[in-house]
Amino acid sequence: MTSGHVFIATSLDGFVARLDHQLDWLTKQDTGGEEHGYEAFMASVDGLVMGRGSYTTVLAFEGWPYEKPVVVMSKSLTQADVPARLAGRVRIVASEPAELMDELDRQGWRRVYVDGGRVVQSFLGAGLIEDLTLTLVPILIGTGQRLFGELDADIDLELLEATPFESGLVRTRYRVRAPTPGPAGPRTRGLQRPARGR
Ligand SMILES: NC(=O)c1ccc[n+]([C@@H]2O[C@H](COP(=O)([O-])OP(=O)(O)OC[C@H]3O[C@@H](n4cnc5c(N)ncnc54)[C@H](OP(=O)(O)O)[C@@H]3O)[C@@H](O)[C@H]2O)c1
Repeated sequence: MTSGHVFIATSLDGFVARLDHQLDWLTKQDTGGEEHGYEAFMASVDGLVMGRGSYTTVLAFEGWPYEKPVVVMSKSLTQADVPARLAGRVRIVASEPAELMDELDRQGWRRVYVDGGRVVQSFLGAGLIEDLTLTLVPILIGTGQRLFGELDADIDLELLEATPFESGLVRTRYRVRAPTPGPAGPRTRGLQRPARGR
């Protein structure tokens, strides 16, 4: 079965981009050529799935940064919006996350890099993410595009790794635990009265 994996940098207050999608707060970090594991992660996936927001940002970069195939989730773009230079490398789909993962599974993809903000949220909500590598950037930007949002139920995580770098960036890796809904339903779990010892 195809699994989803996240590798993303966030400000300490949980944003992946400014409201206008700028990444200046990230690119201005003086990381002195540190290797944060991106190359190894990228080598481990069959391709990328990203939202229109991320695709639009990357399109404005000087060159196309991906060797691997990219699937863009969008209900407002069509394949005709993909520039000729990216023909055969970028595919636009309007499917739902689970449907897309099934399709990629049939195509032989085993590990998918799920990228973006809202797209990561929908894949998490649909239980399609196996692990998240979050690189925390030592900056507060106050507002912007959030990595995480509202959920129908808690998502329990297991910390697998936390690596601080000289620059102040901290890479963390979490495994998504299987959901364990309580008898009163997932959302009310934390509101139950704790058992008292006698
Ligand atoms: N800090 C980092 O490391 C990092 C990494 C990646 C991206 N980013 C930035 O983070 C920002 C993310 O912005 P975002 O949250 O707007 O972007 P996003 O998740 O990349 O894209 C969201 C868009 O994808 C489309 N979409 C289609 N199916 C969807 C679904 N099931 N769930 C959610 N969205 C779906 C929608 O566009 P339609 O209306 O077209 O359907 C939606 O507005 C971007 O600016 C990106 O550049 C930062």
